[in-house]
Amino acid sequence: MIKAFVIGHPIKHSRSPLIHGYWLKHYGLQGSYEPIEVTPEALPAFLDRLRGGEFAGGNVTVPHKEQTFQLVDEKDPKTAHIKAFNTLVRREDGHIFGTNTDLYGFLANLDQEAPGWSGGLEDVVVLGAGGAARAVVAGLTGRVSGKVHVLNRTVERAQALIADFGDKVVAAPLEQFGAAAQRARLIVNTTTIGMHGTRFEGIDLARVPRAALVTDIVYVPLLTPLLTEAAEQGLRVVDGLGMLLHQAVPGFEAWFGTRPEVTPELRVLIEATLK
Ligand code: ATR
Repeated sequence: MIKAFVIGHPIKHSRSPLIHGYWLKHYGLQGSYEPIEVTPEALPAFLDRLRGGEFAGGNVTVPHKEQTFQLVDEKDPKTAHIKAFNTLVRREDGHIFGTNTDLYGFLANLDQEAPGWSGGLEDVVVLGAGGAARAVVAGLTGRVSGKVHVLNRTVERAQALIADFGDKVVAAPLEQFGAAAQRARLIVNTTTIGMHGTRFEGIDLARVPRAALVTDIVYVPLLTPLLTEAAEQGLRVVDGLGMLLHQAVPGFEAWFGTRPEVTPELRVLIEATLK
């Protein structure tokens, strides 16, 4: 039986076992996907278990994505500039291949929920400069023709982020939202603001062009205060749940050999756990 895992610390809130469990059953596959609590100190030893053949691969979540990036044997060149990996695949020779599927998940969610969103896309605004922002920025650089404005409370962190990307990506403090958003067709929140209903101070959506799309990678609650406000102002919004569902697709395919589909039925199943 093929075995896969998700490791994190803590791990009990992860929805990934539900997603992969649903697909295993739906496609009638013999396999398992189990959540495993792993502390940062225990990560190297756990990766040796993967090398040893106990698992076909698995997912990595908070706080292990950056450390895992350092520890894998083979880095996916397409996502290495994110410097954080969330998906591992064991090669036949025992080597661990690491990749970041958040980039794919972010783009696939918008492609499914807002088809055509990136056609003729010029300036975009990304709020936040943490690990999640890096995946979003990496995805966006391939789709925009203008600038990717990375705005962060701690501007030094935004500057450190943009150093790993081309000159299409620029950094600014959050206070410059009004100026940066004036020409933006897409606003993405990657900060933890919005979790548990917290809100941004000083982000005035009235300055955003009416044709803009607003999306949030926070999915608890599904409609964050930013998305609620954007929708009230008549802007198009896409929630973050689809990113979680789509980022799971490449891993499942690599371990279990079937490319799974993100269906409305799966979405409803996971949505029910967000209440
Ligand atoms: P992740 O890896 O999930 O992106 P992270 O690396 O902890 O998580 O990043 C959290 C992001 O949320 C950062 O951009 C952080 O801003 P700072 O770099 O200034 O800390 C942002 N963030 C968290 N709380 C915030 C708040 N109250 N106001 C503004 N930004 C906040």
